[in-house]
Amino acid sequence: MTIRTLIAAGLAIGLCTAASPALAQEKTDAAAFQKMEAAVKATFSRATPEWQKRIELDETQRLCTIARNQVSAADADAIQKRESASIVMPADGKFLGDWKNGFAVANSGRGGQFSDDAKTINGGNCYACHQMDPKELSYGTLGPSLAAYGRDRKYDEAAIKDAWKKIYNSQAVVACSNMPRFGVTKFLDEQQLKDVMAYLFDPNSPVNK
Ligand code: HEC
Repeated sequence: MTIRTLIAAGLAIGLCTAASPALAQEKTDAAAFQKMEAAVKATFSRATPEWQKRIELDETQRLCTIARNQVSAADADAIQKRESASIVMPADGKFLGDWKNGFAVANSGRGGQFSDDAKTINGGNCYACHQMDPKELSYGTLGPSLAAYGRDRKYDEAAIKDAWKKIYNSQAVVACSNMPRFGVTKFLDEQQLKDVMAYLFDPNSPVNK
């Protein structure tokens, strides 16, 4: 685990499922789940109401957490259907923004932390989990390498749409994904999503060099 990965784990609280895949073999029983919920609530008991809201699990997070990410096929279908319904495609039909701004989105782990003020611009922290520019030395490995992502897919229109969906709401694609749901949580805005998409798909982006 790199420092970035640890920061990502912190960022992930409230954005994606908290259960660890390393524990996937064990089934969580109802009592253990309630104990865990009570412990998390107690930890944040003095936090502001806005922060308290971040530890409320939605239905998707609840199902994945109870099953330690090993949901039944039926639950996985239901989750993916519900999460897919939340995806909003870009209003102007353009998926790619500016890759240079996309680098900044991918490389920043700021936003949503107790030490951030209201003016902090949220980052996607993609590097915490993914290799992207193959020349970059520091990256996490929770997710697959995204080096040459666009080039490997021949900048294909369908692959671009699929990547938008994945980044907008990762759990529409993998029911209990550990990747944050950047679009649906509004953690990144539409322009930031377009810019990070360009970082992956612009032929001039260092990701594809
Ligand atoms: C906390 C870790 C984490 C973070 C942060 C993260 N991802 Fe992921 N990502 C994953 C994992 C794990 C997968 C593998 C599939 C899955 O389980 O969802 C993945 C899969 C993907 C895929 C699909 C790869 C394929 O196989 O085609 C894309 C594209 C992607 N991530 C882009 C991003 C971008 C862009 C960002 C930043 C805005 C980001 N990810 C941030 C964990 C993360």
